[in-house]
Amino acid sequence: MKFFDDMQKVFEEKFGAVETQKYFSPGRVNLIGEHTDYNGGNVFPCAISLGTYALVAPRSDSVSRVYSMNLADKGVIEFPMNGCKYNNEYDWANYVAGTVATFEQAGYKATHGFDIVVYGTLPAGAGLSSSAAMEVLTAVILKENFGFDIDMVEMVKLAQKAENEFVGMNCGIMDQFAVGMGKKDCAILLDCNTLKYRYSPVKLDGCSIVITNTNKPHSLVTSAYNERRSQCEHALKEVQAVKPELKAWGELSNAEFDELEHNITDPIERLRARHAVRENQRTLEAVSALEKNDIEKFGQLMHDSHVSLCEDYDVTGVELDTLAELAWTVEGCIGSRMTGAGFGGSTVSIVKNSALENFKKVLQEGYTKKIGYAPSFYVADISDGTHRIV
Ligand code: GLA
Repeated sequence: MKFFDDMQKVFEEKFGAVETQKYFSPGRVNLIGEHTDYNGGNVFPCAISLGTYALVAPRSDSVSRVYSMNLADKGVIEFPMNGCKYNNEYDWANYVAGTVATFEQAGYKATHGFDIVVYGTLPAGAGLSSSAAMEVLTAVILKENFGFDIDMVEMVKLAQKAENEFVGMNCGIMDQFAVGMGKKDCAILLDCNTLKYRYSPVKLDGCSIVITNTNKPHSLVTSAYNERRSQCEHALKEVQAVKPELKAWGELSNAEFDELEHNITDPIERLRARHAVRENQRTLEAVSALEKNDIEKFGQLMHDSHVSLCEDYDVTGVELDTLAELAWTVEGCIGSRMTGAGFGGSTVSIVKNSALENFKKVLQEGYTKKIGYAPSFYVADISDGTHRIV
């Protein structure tokens, strides 16, 4: 690949001319099942061919030096491989350092460091999991180089732990799971309560998966996200007072929830929990529709998912709502919804190939007129999970 040559030049400039290992770690797009993972429900994401490429060489001492071609102004960032703590100055490299530290705490100790150059094709802040891509990438580099006896699901769990405990984002497991366990042309139906999963081939005859980035410059995702999570947890505690055997919202059917919701005191928390339950059921319905080739139904459920994320979960905002609402007007757009945490980031849409140009035109014009700047579009290919390229 041409850009590996460019990356190698940069590597030599920064770290000297040595032989390097090559890696790829994908981003993810979630087709349906949003804000269900930490509520013990199902998600349906896939890994995508946009992601992070890395060139890696072992060092003989116990520091690592990392450089991102996308964030050249941050320069080379150096951190210790043992006993490393979160440090604002590490900036994006906290995802790398955090994974190393989390592995060490779990008994997987690195005995030397690395020089690493990364180059990402994922747009920053698009809600496509560039941080999970970096964490799982680090996990795979560690396993490859130290021969740790650990499987991908365990690595995924440690990557999530790094994000929760080192970085402080209380995320569920979806992103790291999709990035690590992704499989070409398949989405993953993952039950986040049990971590049981299966692959479901995504055959969209004559249609594409289109990601539209709001390009919203800055949003305080972490605090709002952590707040949603604690609202759901608090509501669950209230219901557990009358139903102690209930472990997670994902265990309830819609009808069971309707019977129990009066136990939740705060009306806002009631809405949050209602979304968690309904979205989980919707995800199961959507997967079964897709597997029966009922793509229209899948599209309708994507629409319903967005509405619920807007009205009950309140994580959309004017940018995502504008994109989704415009998409719903386009003939040949089968379905469209926000994807990821929300508050900005991207929508995911299923669009007939014959309607693609018009889709882009309608969204580009309508969004720019209302919001004041343009969105960007990516047609997603579903890719394999993080791996070394040999
Ligand atoms: C972020 C988190 C995930 C998940 C989604 C919402 O991407 O990292 O764990 O909760 O938001 O579905």
